[in-house]
Amino acid sequence: MSLLELDGVKVHFPIKKGILFDRTVGHVYAVDGVSLKVEAGQTYGLVGESGCGKTTLGRAVLRLVDITEGSVVLDGTDLAKLSGEEMRRFRRRLQMVFQDPLGSLNPRQNIESILTEGMIAHGIGKNQEERREKIKSILERVGLPANALSRYPHEFSGGQRQRIGIARALVLEPDVIICDEPVSALDVSVQAQVINLLEELQDELGLTYVVIAHDLAVVRHISDTIGVMYLGSLVEEAPSDVLYAEPRHPYTKALMSAVPVPDPDVEDRRERILLTGDLPSPANPPSGCRFHTRCPWAQAERCATERPELRDLGGGHRVACHYAEEIAAGKLRRVTGEVVSAVREGVEDKPASEGTGVAGKAEASGEAEKAEKPGKAAKAEGSAKSAKAEGAQKKEAPKKAEAAEAAEKAAKAEKPGKAAKTEGADKKEAPKKAEAAKAEKSGKAEKAEAPEKAAKAARTDEADGAEKAETSEKKAEKAGKAEKSEAEKAV
Ligand SMILES: Nc1ncnc2c1ncn2[C@@H]1O[C@H](COP(=O)(O)OP(=O)(O)O)[C@@H](O)[C@H]1O
Ligand code: SF4
Ligand SMILES: [Mg+2]
Repeated sequence: MSLLELDGVKVHFPIKKGILFDRTVGHVYAVDGVSLKVEAGQTYGLVGESGCGKTTLGRAVLRLVDITEGSVVLDGTDLAKLSGEEMRRFRRRLQMVFQDPLGSLNPRQNIESILTEGMIAHGIGKNQEERREKIKSILERVGLPANALSRYPHEFSGGQRQRIGIARALVLEPDVIICDEPVSALDVSVQAQVINLLEELQDELGLTYVVIAHDLAVVRHISDTIGVMYLGSLVEEAPSDVLYAEPRHPYTKALMSAVPVPDPDVEDRRERILLTGDLPSPANPPSGCRFHTRCPWAQAERCATERPELRDLGGGHRVACHYAEEIAAGKLRRVTGEVVSAVREGVEDKPASEGTGVAGKAEASGEAEKAEKPGKAAKAEGSAKSAKAEGAQKKEAPKKAEAAEAAEKAAKAEKPGKAAKTEGADKKEAPKKAEAAKAEKSGKAEKAEAPEKAAKAARTDEADGAEKAETSEKKAEKAGKAEKSEAEKAV
């Protein structure tokens, strides 16, 4: 039996409408029947375009979202059947590393406090002294300085923060770690370091990983097995080498055709499959094969009406396509979709800007995520330069910059001596200032109005200050809220 087994997992989010009474008017089929197995000590890589349900699947495994149907079995225990308290205890064995390292770390807590939280919740360590020793050795193991303990998340770089996220998972001695886009928010130069660290830790501690990414390059080397997701289900799964050498599903073929090859001879011959149409909405997925609206090999009737099963074609290579064999043998002709030389001038830039290339889109979304750090997006990999991606960067970067700044401000505001003033404090303060202003203005009877004005001004200033402190805190909270609460729930 495998360590982690998912069988027919579905997560459907209801779409509600109505002011007084919530009516369910439909569902978002975020995850729609995923079955996979993860062996102990191995890494399962899950890839697919943004929005295909990867994160939701990861959260379903941890039961951070309700599973609509199916089972998640960890080491023989069906997690869906556990009570709340039993599941809480079980969560120690299943940890998650989040995409946004800053957002998932509480800016008001220092590193020791962040790492201690989960240990206390799960009764690890007899006392704080013992816990501190353990935290110190793990911090050292993930490559962080010993003085990190008393520092706050904003004092670290992106890569270091992700190391903190990894340490937070490790202190609980989990069996399985789900890494959701663990490096997509990081600078390209740091990505490899974090992936290497994950690999080293796996070798040393015998960890089992599920690594989620939209970028095939990220999961390639770290994964033993790779699953490709499209609109809530797996379309192909194979041992990593096999998948890269011989992708069998048309969607995987298109994704792969967008990845540049380091060998210049091969790169010169590389062809790119351009898909037509956008990714359909998971609230209204196509009938039959979910990919038929974009598949270059789609055959009338059957592909539009009959949903293909994930079939084993031998050697653990599973493919959800009615015509996988015929396509591989070259017996089936492409009906749509253009195949172009990847090196043809301008080709790399076109697909995403035209909104027609799945590969281009994947790159574009990748760029947008990489652009989370302002100014660093420029360093992102060569081929991903689409106009769309740039647009996304321009939109995303300032927002994220603002959030990061806000987070920093809020964190600073929490530091001793710089505590953000509460509204109550302001109200007490304002009259004092007014009094001071009054004193200043005393003797100037002709300007009898002045003290009042000064008091007003003082009040507004204070109110302004408080508001600013509040909004920056709120912004910071918003930026990190989703993931933070996930991280907190995951404890
Ligand atoms: N809580 C939710 N309620 C409704 N829809 C959701 C919720 N969470 C995710 N979704 C939707 O489910 C789909 C899959 O999302 P997600 O799992 O985040 O994809 P990925 O991680 O692959 O980018 C998306 O269309 C997303 O909008
Ligand atoms: S089943 Fe049909 S539409 Fe789906 S991937 Fe295969 S050929 Fe394409
Ligand atoms: Mg995601």
